[in-house]
Amino acid sequence: MAGTFITFEGIDGSGKSTQLRLLANFLRSEGGEVLVTREPGGTSVGLRLRAALLDALEQVDPLTELLVFAADRAQHVRRVLRPALEAGQTVLSDRYADATKAYQGAGRGFSAELVSEIVQLATEGLTPDLTLLFDLSVTESSARTRRRSEGKQTGDRLDSEDAGFHTRVREAYLSLAAREPERFRVVTTNGSVDETHERVKKIVVPFLEARGQIVSREPATAGSRDTHRVPQRESPAGLEEPP
Ligand code: TMP
Repeated sequence: MAGTFITFEGIDGSGKSTQLRLLANFLRSEGGEVLVTREPGGTSVGLRLRAALLDALEQVDPLTELLVFAADRAQHVRRVLRPALEAGQTVLSDRYADATKAYQGAGRGFSAELVSEIVQLATEGLTPDLTLLFDLSVTESSARTRRRSEGKQTGDRLDSEDAGFHTRVREAYLSLAAREPERFRVVTTNGSVDETHERVKKIVVPFLEARGQIVSREPATAGSRDTHRVPQRESPAGLEEPP
């Protein structure tokens, strides 16, 4: 496919969403044509599914959870990701299929075979070109999510799972990364936001240059993004400011 698909993964509170925003801003300032999206919630129907999935007051059965994440992904792949990649864009997605393997597989205990089948169905085989795994201890990441949810009436349903759940998810991510070293890069996020951003740039910029994606030194002009806009694709919804 003409574009480049980069996914951002990690346990809750690992800092991936902040890093995604910083990288998107940087690539755009370099003239790159970047689409920022996320799962769940990268489409308008996906936003509704996201609200239901993450509502701490909902009692979502684990099988329902697995299938709804897959439904969100099917819509996202068909309506947003494939059209953008076919149009040559650099797509940065805040989570994708590895999250289902880590959260519903290791976290909830569904078998790797079942999760892989469902992932295959939803993605139709669309695999990221590069996956950045943001890694932090469960103690530190939980402290961050606690700080983030202070003042909110309810936290996200999955954020509030116990440390054992988040430990299984973290270990699953690390073993996915070890199994596919070509695709994954593990980025430790215990330093400052700026230090992590520098590390991310050192990985992504050469990667995009090697693929011939535009990472020019020229700032983007106001009209240049419009000329690349993809026709007939659903606009990703509410994506520039992940919570
Ligand atoms: P976010 O807070 O990073 O946007 O992610 C929302 C939550 O959804 C997070 O706790 C991880 C979870 N999740 C899954 O459990 N399975 C999935 O397939 C995806 C995409 C997210």
